[in-house]
Amino acid sequence: MELKNKVAVITGGAIRVGRAITLGLAQAGCHVFIHYGRSAQPALATEAEAGGYGVETAVYRADLADAEATQTIIPAALARFGRVDILINNAAIFPDEDSFQGTDLALWEVLFAINLRAPFLLSRAFAAHIPPEGQGKIINVNDGRIRRPAPDHFVYRFTKGSLWQMTEMLALELAPRITVNQVALGAILPPPGQGWDYLQHIADQRIPLRRYGNAEMVAEAVNYLLRQDFLTGVTIPIEGGEYL
Ligand SMILES: NC(=O)c1ccc[n+]([C@@H]2O[C@H](COP(=O)([O-])OP(=O)(O)OC[C@H]3O[C@@H](n4cnc5c(N)ncnc54)[C@H](OP(=O)(O)O)[C@@H]3O)[C@@H](O)[C@H]2O)c1
Repeated sequence: MELKNKVAVITGGAIRVGRAITLGLAQAGCHVFIHYGRSAQPALATEAEAGGYGVETAVYRADLADAEATQTIIPAALARFGRVDILINNAAIFPDEDSFQGTDLALWEVLFAINLRAPFLLSRAFAAHIPPEGQGKIINVNDGRIRRPAPDHFVYRFTKGSLWQMTEMLALELAPRITVNQVALGAILPPPGQGWDYLQHIADQRIPLRRYGNAEMVAEAVNYLLRQDFLTGVTIPIEGGEYL
C-alpha cells in the first residue's frame, strides 16, 4: 500500500511511541487522526508537528476504558476525512501494581478494557466500513515479553497475549480485504519516571545487542508493515533479541 494520501487512526497517538508512529505516518504523506485520552496539549503539539509534513490532521479525545466512547472513534474519523485506511492500535496501560495478588477487580477490568477490548471494538468498526473491494491495514502494538512467561505485569500479559492471538485470528477473519500485523516491543522507552539509565541497565543485563531501541524504530517498522501487501498475521519483534 502506498501511504501517501491514506488516512490513519492512531490510538494514543499524542505521546511517546504513539507520537513517533503518528509523525512517521505523516512524514510518509498519510493524513492522521490522532486519538488521545488525557494528553490534550501533547495531542495539539503532535498535530502541529504532523501538519508540518503537509498532511491533514485531526485530534480526537476518547476514554478507551469506556466502550461507548471507544466506539465513537472510527465514526468520528470517517466524519472528518470521509475514509479510514489504516488503524494503529497503540494505546495501552502498564500498571506497576499489576501482580498476581495485587491486581484488584477494578484494575483487571480497566486493563482488559483499554488493552484488549478497545483494539477489538476499533478493529470491528474499522472492518465494517471497508467495502468488499476495498483495502485496509491494521497494526497492533504489542509487547515482546509475551514470548517469555514471567510473573511481572500479570494481567497486562493476559491482555497482550490475547492481543497477539487476536492479531492472528483477525488476519484470517479479515482477509483478503484487510491485513493485520503487529510489532512486539522490548526496551524502547523507559516507563514514566525512569531515565535512559534504566533501559541501559536492562540492555546490559539481558539484551543480546546490549543496547535499547527508540520510538522511531517502531515507526519505521509500522510503515514497513503498512507498505506490504503480502504480509498478514506477522509480528516484527523490536527488542534486540531480548526474548529469543
Ligand atoms: N515503551 C516501551 O518500551 C514499550 C515496551 C513494550 C510494549 N510497549 C507498547 O507500546 C505501546 C505504547 O507504549 P508507550 O510506552 O508509548 O505507552 P504510554 O507512554 O504508557 O502511553 C500510553 C498511551 O495510551 C493512551 N491511553 C492509555 N489509557 C488510555 C485511556 N483510558 N483512554 C485513551 N487513551 C489511553 C495514552 O493516551 P493519553 O496520554 O492521551 O491518555 C498514551 O498515548 C503500548 O501498547 C505498550 O504496551 C511499549
